[in-house]
Parts: sequence; C-alpha cells; structure tokens
Amino acid sequence: MKERYEDLIAAAKEAMEKAYAPYSNFKVGTALRTSSGRIFTGCNVENASYGATVCAERTAVVKAISEGEHDFEAIAVVSSSGRITPPCGLCRQVLAEFSEDMAVVLAAENGDAKVYPLYALFPEAKLPLDTEK
Ligand code: THU
Repeated sequence: MKERYEDLIAAAKEAMEKAYAPYSNFKVGTALRTSSGRIFTGCNVENASYGATVCAERTAVVKAISEGEHDFEAIAVVSSSGRITPPCGLCRQVLAEFSEDMAVVLAAENGDAKVYPLYALFPEAKLPLDTEK
C-alpha cells in the first residue's frame, strides 16, 4: 500500500524544506496527486498574526484548484516532528469539499506510514443541512 505513495511522500518531504514556520518551528510538507496524475506540493506558511497561518495541506489544495484541478486521488503529509502528522479539522473539511474518497497518507521520517480514506478522518461530510428530515 505504502509503496504506491513513495513518490508522493518524497515530494512532500522536499516541499517541507520550503516551510515558513518561524513561530512554531514545526515544518510540514504535502504533496497532492490529482486524478489526472499531476502533483501539487505545499508547505505551511505562518504569519505573525498566527491566525493567518496556512497549513501545508491547504497550500497544496489552493495551488491545485487555481490550476483547474478539482479531483484528488491522494495527499501525502510529512512533518519535522519525526511522527506522523494528521491534518487539522479545518484542512479535513477543505479536502472533503473536493474528494471525500481520496487517500490521506501520513508518513514519518523513520518510514512509518498510515493511509486512510478521507471519509474515515472526516465522516459524513455532506450531511443534509435540513434538520427537519
Ligand atoms: N500544520 C500544518 O501545516 N499541517 C498539519 O497537518 C498540522 C499543522 C502547521 C500549522 C502551523 O504552521 C504548524 O503546523 C503548527 O501547528
């Protein structure tokens, strides 16, 4: 399973080097593969306001959408923590907007990796909003 994502994990590690994280010192890199086979990378971009920080996952999503790609097959996430780094709730929601079936590949420096379908990390993303039914 993991082998299928080795190229994405490698691209995410390379992107992590570009992280702008002077406040947390927690660098994150991502690589997002579209259904058409293109790869978009991302890193976290922090800000002195803290609140304006953009996570690495959303950086990659915004790059892909702005290039006309809306269908995602997988995203790999790596960080400088040495452990696997699950995406925050906000990023799960943003990913689910486009591809609930995508694979979320969480990889650690030592080679450990876990692969989840996004719907397992963010279930029932498209519940009907009409609460009377
Ligand atoms: N961060 C990400 O970019 N992605 C994650 O999945 C977890 C957290 C960033 C946000 C912030 O710049 C730093 O890591 C610490 O939370």
